[in-house]
Amino acid sequence: MLCCENGLEGLHTPHIHSVFAGRSIVPSPRTVLWEHGSLQTDPGSAGDPVFVLPEGHPDRGERIAAYHFWLFPATFLTIHPWGLALRAIQPLGQRRTHVSFRCFAGRAAPRPPGTLEALRRTAEEDAHVIESVQRGMESRLFRGGRYSPVAEKCVHHFHRLLAGWMAGGRGAR
Ligand SMILES: [Fe+2]
Repeated sequence: MLCCENGLEGLHTPHIHSVFAGRSIVPSPRTVLWEHGSLQTDPGSAGDPVFVLPEGHPDRGERIAAYHFWLFPATFLTIHPWGLALRAIQPLGQRRTHVSFRCFAGRAAPRPPGTLEALRRTAEEDAHVIESVQRGMESRLFRGGRYSPVAEKCVHHFHRLLAGWMAGGRGAR
């Protein structure tokens, strides 16, 4: 659950990830919720390759460095101009999780040097903070907070689906 929350919100990124240090928190310019998934767009940072979108594309004219797709319950597909990054999260128990991470090269743009190393470091930073959050949630002092209506639409959507699934239904709508 915490791995998915982490992947669905960007509030932590400037504080946790060295590659995003100093970058201001920019909520996704475009967030789409589906019955069992979501999409967020990412303008990226200066120097990141961006999509050159064809005439008539709904995002034509927008600066988009990545499309972040999430499929319930725990699959992330991030499409960059240079290819696809796939992350599949598999719970192994209440306190153990396995994360599979694969990158596939595309043809639209070359992968910038250092991309794989940055992705690996980002994944390690996420794992570290997720374990820290897990410890915090187990504290007697932990109290849940309110969702950010701007930055946590997808987390809220995930929690509604999860609650519906745990209740035995197909997920809240
Ligand atoms: Fe992260």
